[in-house]
Amino acid sequence: MANKIDHLAIIMDGNGRWAKGRGLPRLKGHEAGAQAARKVVEAAKERQIRFLTLYAFSSENWRRPRDEVEGLFRLLEGFIDREVERLVESGIRLHTIGDLSKFPSSLRQKIAMTTEKTQANGELHLSVALNYGGRNEILRGFRRAIRSGLSAEELDEEAFSRCLDTSFMPDPDLLVRTGGERRISNFLLWQLAYTEIYFSDTLWPDFDENALDSAISWFNTRQRRFGMTPEQIEGIPLP
Ligand code: IPE
Ligand code: IPE
Ligand code: MG
Repeated sequence: MANKIDHLAIIMDGNGRWAKGRGLPRLKGHEAGAQAARKVVEAAKERQIRFLTLYAFSSENWRRPRDEVEGLFRLLEGFIDREVERLVESGIRLHTIGDLSKFPSSLRQKIAMTTEKTQANGELHLSVALNYGGRNEILRGFRRAIRSGLSAEELDEEAFSRCLDTSFMPDPDLLVRTGGERRISNFLLWQLAYTEIYFSDTLWPDFDENALDSAISWFNTRQRRFGMTPEQIEGIPLP
């Protein structure tokens, strides 16, 4: 039987190289990347995926040239302006994960307005990771746990998961990283414990429905064992 993807997470990498290959500025790559994201959101919804988490800006991406960082924020604001009605109408609920406190207040307001406008939706939970770093999330989670008065004995994996930005979603079933790099780059460190990982050489702006279907087909060939033996998973009685 095919595996079921309830939660798909994507590291959308390769925008800069896509632009460079065309002799264009990096920001043009990010613009093309935003279009790819739009299409993949639709495709995920059509494929009945309930949770989609997109890595859009890492806690380390502040190290990029100021122009690029500012351009990315402008792009994000424009994207929200253009997409908000479509999100509302198509049953998509917007969430963010990451520490938004360092973002410009106009962007924060737009995000808050959109998450509020879409909060009655539930067909697809679209989470955009912004100023997100797995280590930072875990640290903030610990702080939350301490502030909430949880005792050392009460703090188990479940209670801690509830202190993370991702508390409302299941762990990802499949992580896709485009752009050819084979690394996690500080994404969802806690949540990826048993996630299947698919690396694609396709640069993010070129990633489309067909590329998504290839990732899903690959995922369907995996046997997820969660520490058990293949026989246990297949239900074959042990001798
Ligand atoms: C991913 O593409 C988008 C962000 C990190 C914002 P990159 O900008 O990292 O593209 P490459 O890796 O330089 O090609
Ligand atoms: C990861 O891509 C972050 C996002 C896609 C938002 P990077 O391009 O920042 O990752 P590294 O620096 O190559 O590991
Ligand atoms: Mg990159």
